[in-house]
Amino acid sequence: MGPIGVFDSGYGGLTILQDIKKQLPEYDFLYLGDNARAPYGTRSFEVVYKFTLEAVTELFNRGCELVILACNTSSAKALRSIQQNDLKMIGPDKRVLGVIRPSTEIIGDLTKSNSVGLLATEGTVSSNSYVIEVKKYSPSTKIYQQACPMWVPLIESNKQNSHTGREFIREDVENLLKKDPKMDVIVLGCTHYPIIKDYIQSIVPDHVKVISQGNIVAERVLDYLNRHPKIESKCSKSATSTYLTTESTDEFDTNASYYIGEKIVSVNIKLG
Ligand code: DGL
Repeated sequence: MGPIGVFDSGYGGLTILQDIKKQLPEYDFLYLGDNARAPYGTRSFEVVYKFTLEAVTELFNRGCELVILACNTSSAKALRSIQQNDLKMIGPDKRVLGVIRPSTEIIGDLTKSNSVGLLATEGTVSSNSYVIEVKKYSPSTKIYQQACPMWVPLIESNKQNSHTGREFIREDVENLLKKDPKMDVIVLGCTHYPIIKDYIQSIVPDHVKVISQGNIVAERVLDYLNRHPKIESKCSKSATSTYLTTESTDEFDTNASYYIGEKIVSVNIKLG
């Protein structure tokens, strides 16, 4: 028996963990933020895959039977290879799930105009994962993408509310909106972005709804555990959360506590 692992390049996955914990309050969770090597969004496919595999292996070694990649960039660039090639070596009975599929399955239901904007990292945008996946579930929905390379560095350094930070955010949002005036939904396709969701919602027209992934992913994890009793029975339930970071714990504890509004005491680990 072990905790459910939740992995992100940095702080973003905390937004997903918060929502998963609301759905599954009795379970144990082990969060890993690779803050020292964030951002992943501007890194190559090979590097994101290598870093993500190291993180998943670490979480497996610490007893996790199920790991959620709470990072769109890792889900886009590493999930499939890990599921298809690595799992049989590093944990044949263990499972790794991502955040893109749950989101793309329901995007078509959220829009009336069939025009959806996606804000994400360069890595997620260039992988085209959202466009490819949404086509499977909702062929009539058009996805317009905008890469926001500055946003994760801003959030990792807690500068998202500075004047310059807000200028970067506003410019990217305006560039996305310009792609189609019919756009009525904007999906935050990076788990860091819910941290600035209120600001984004405040600068878009009233008819545009800004959607984050936390609830969507949390419902899918609940559903997954209901459908996979063997995995579920190996997830321990003492309602604890443990936090690991590759960065200094002081910095992680301060920023993570600020972002999720609860006191966090992390442990430093090395990856790679
Ligand atoms: N939270 C990650 C995501 O969802 C950010 C990736 C990065 O580190 O750039 O894509």
